[in-house]
Amino acid sequence: MKIIRTINEMKQIVNEANNKTIGFVPTMGFLHEGHLSLVKEAKKENDFVVTSIFVNPLQFGPNEDFDEYPRDEEQDANHAKQAGVDVLFIPAMEEMYPKKMGIKIIVEEGTDVLCGRSRPGHFDGVGTVLTKLFHIVQPNNTYFGLKDAQQYAVVHHLIEQLNFPVKINGLPTVREQDGLAKSSRNVYLSDIERQEAIFLYESLQYAQKRVVDGIENPDIIIKEVTNMLQEKTSGKIDYVELLSYPALQQISTITEPIIIAIAVQFTQARLIDNILLQPNGTKIDRL
Ligand code: PAF
Repeated sequence: MKIIRTINEMKQIVNEANNKTIGFVPTMGFLHEGHLSLVKEAKKENDFVVTSIFVNPLQFGPNEDFDEYPRDEEQDANHAKQAGVDVLFIPAMEEMYPKKMGIKIIVEEGTDVLCGRSRPGHFDGVGTVLTKLFHIVQPNNTYFGLKDAQQYAVVHHLIEQLNFPVKINGLPTVREQDGLAKSSRNVYLSDIERQEAIFLYESLQYAQKRVVDGIENPDIIIKEVTNMLQEKTSGKIDYVELLSYPALQQISTITEPIIIAIAVQFTQARLIDNILLQPNGTKIDRL
């Protein structure tokens, strides 16, 4: 595995790739099995795999955890190598943003809900950095985890509307044995919070059961999930939402594919999770 730190070297590798297909897994590092499952899929479908590690300041709000975001380059390099990454692209801040960006992508659709509402400007930052990374890496395929289902929907739009010649693949959320979605932020949960955190996925599974039972009114499901989270966790609920997917619109009856998504703020970690369902309650695992 090559570790590349400059855009020029990265572009050179891409140029030398000729007709080989490139699979790209963009990350902010602190790699866990969720990221590595994306690498494994990328390896199956491409001649070589590029993973980037860049904690992108543009997507963090002023009071968010940019400084505290976990970083461990050595461990990441080991994980990436073991998973079969061919090129690990780790640009420094000055490499990606040598001067203050005077241009940015503004994502107007699908960002007034879920994390977009609680994190104004977040998806503009994601769109801006991915625009740069797609230009630098020029992948044929890119891989995103559906744990960030809103991010998947936004990036899908970005690719479609700005005509990036890349196919986006959405892969299943990887979970701990007890159901907690893997996340770089899980390390910031206290022992008690870690035990409570299982109720994020339990509440989503309960919601799925209710849709299977035939409940069509989103308000009923939102209320039940909210009650469960309030009862079982000490975290502060940021949102519980049920929306159409991928359009992310409010709906009054469940007659199309939906997302049920939650975000809970614990003392030092804000956790998100979601479930994507067909209107009959069948789970959608990959896109
Ligand atoms: O999902 C992430 O880790 C980030 O939002 C991404 C896609 C790497 C862009 O910085």
